[in-house]
Amino acid sequence: MTDHIQISTQDRVTFLTIARPDKKNAITQDMYAAMAKAIEDYDRTDDARAFIITGEGDMFTAGNDLQDFSTDDSGDAEPPVARFLRAVRDCEKPLIAAVNGPAIGVGLTMLLHCDLVYAARSATFGAPFVKLGLVPEAASSLLLPAAVGMAVANDILLAGRTLTADEAVSFGLVARVFADDELASAVQKIGQHVAASAPNALKFSKQLIRGNRTEIEQQMEDEAKLFVAQLKSPDFRESVAAMMEKRQPVYA
Ligand code: COA
Repeated sequence: MTDHIQISTQDRVTFLTIARPDKKNAITQDMYAAMAKAIEDYDRTDDARAFIITGEGDMFTAGNDLQDFSTDDSGDAEPPVARFLRAVRDCEKPLIAAVNGPAIGVGLTMLLHCDLVYAARSATFGAPFVKLGLVPEAASSLLLPAAVGMAVANDILLAGRTLTADEAVSFGLVARVFADDELASAVQKIGQHVAASAPNALKFSKQLIRGNRTEIEQQMEDEAKLFVAQLKSPDFRESVAAMMEKRQPVYA
């Protein structure tokens, strides 16, 4: 169990808050497990109609916890991060993101599986996998080029570009930007609107919009194999050491 994921429900809207502000809301395996369970519960509970993901404080999430990255002790069981990515990918009901600040790594890639993405003016978006000696995950190597175009996706995934909220809107990653202090209430209203809408119409519309998922599932499998291999690589060790020691990495 973890206190760093807070779940509350109001008027059939579930709120999930990533709440680990002293570590910039970096996500540990325990947190992934709690997030996966919350989404699975939402998906199978008839009376739950909308689901909003946000972060506490001034950060959405700094992504995977860097220390937790290579400490998978799940054995043959599905690792919590994989369970979470499967939960967001397969959720049949609307998922809403209120991106209240920087969204890094999985903070960005999870948005590609959310149906309604809104951001605060101060939000930023980056996926520095290569900087860590890693490769994209969550089918972002497929979904990001599809969302923003190959040139911008490469700028983000290969050259480490960070987008502002306005850029994210102009590239189609985010639907709307709100003032920082208006985001939460604006997205809550949208959540209430979604919760009051015809549930089957929403579910079937989502199915139609998303289309065939086979390619996405395959891409996630291909990415996961390379990701796990890179986690064991000298490049990954050097990248994390350099980041922790606040120095430039030196690759062999
Ligand atoms: N995993 C674990 N801890 C993290 C973290 C992460 N992904 N991101 C931040 N933290 C921790 C820092 O280690 C620090 O902990 P400490 O106070 O015990 O030293 C604390 O959060 C504050 O971070 P700090 O770097 O001092 O804050 P900042 O405002 O200068 O920078 C970020 C914030 C998010 C830009 C910076 O922390 C960062 O780049 N984090 C790594 C992001 C990343 O690469 N994620 C993985 C993507 S695949």
